[in-house]
Amino acid sequence: MRALTTYAGATLPALLVLGFFVWFANWIPQTRWDPPKVRQIDAGATPGELAVMGQAIVRERGCMSCHTIEPGGGIKGQGRGPNLDALAVRRANGVAGGPETLVGYLTQALYAPGAYLVEGFSNIMPSSVKAPAKLNRAEVSAVVAYLESLGGTPSVTLASLPAPPDAGAAPVAAPPEAVPNDPEAMLDAFDCLGCHSLEAGEVLVGPPFQASLLVAAAAKAGADPVAYVMQAIVDPRAFEDAEFPAETMPDDYGERLNAAQLYAITEYLITQEGGQ
Ligand code: HEC
Ligand code: HEC
Repeated sequence: MRALTTYAGATLPALLVLGFFVWFANWIPQTRWDPPKVRQIDAGATPGELAVMGQAIVRERGCMSCHTIEPGGGIKGQGRGPNLDALAVRRANGVAGGPETLVGYLTQALYAPGAYLVEGFSNIMPSSVKAPAKLNRAEVSAVVAYLESLGGTPSVTLASLPAPPDAGAAPVAAPPEAVPNDPEAMLDAFDCLGCHSLEAGEVLVGPPFQASLLVAAAAKAGADPVAYVMQAIVDPRAFEDAEFPAETMPDDYGERLNAAQLYAITEYLITQEGGQ
């Protein structure tokens, strides 16, 4: 993550810069959050057609803010969620104690991610049919077809997609922390306001929250404002700041905030102007 700072300095040899861009392309730009586009998915779409749409949906709905697709990267990869490369091979027989087919498992994993936690990961993935991704059933079938294509051949259709797992039977995960939906209340509940003031110019422990300052800082780092702020929250050590020591900010917000909370806070921070 420190690479971003180095990049701003632009002192790296060309090869390292190239390597960085490959990493960067796999990580930052896809964290952009665009409001969900409604897709017309034909009920008769073939598995191959669904997979193409599924790939676009996965990129548009924020999945890649946590997941990576890194050939040879192992299940852990560089993301906050499992590396999805060769997922179809890894999950060809589903999961022990749960669905025993790839399609059954993927459907389960999208509707109720916490039911069979992937070992070594925490329960931070929001259900794909809830905010922020809010997939409808046709979109779930497209995403399942795309995930099947990661190491296998898409086979699912809208008609053959398994029924949503019974919420009563599957232990659906509780949200990481029960806090209000309102961004300002969230900032308070997660103690952000102990260190960051909403009053323009008021310095507590860290820089005040001012959209114009954040947008300028993002530009300086050569990053998209949404990506910059999300990364500053989940990985505060990524950006060095001469004025404020990065070590002061807790580095566990990636585990404490779910994706919906992270997006809501980020959108709020880059659009509001402190104290106005
Ligand atoms: C906030 C981070 C986050 C977001 C956003 C997210 N995931 Fe996940 N995902 C995880 C984590 C962490 C796991 C592993 C823990 C678990 O099983 O829930 C996981 C597990 C999975 C698995 C099971 C992988 C395996 O190896 O068995 C699939 C499939 C998956 N996610 C797909 C998606 C899709 C598709 C989206 C977008 C609609 C998405 N995820 C959004 C964090 C996330
Ligand atoms: C204990 C103090 C502390 C807490 C709590 C804290 N931060 Fe920070 N934060 C800092 C400091 C110090 C910096 C400046 C150093 C740096 O950039 O890493 C910072 C930097 C940031 C930045 C980058 C600002 C910029 O101009 O580049 C963002 C965005 C941010 N914090 C958001 C949050 C959010 C959201 C929360 C709550 C979920 C939070 N912080 C909680 C101390 C804190």
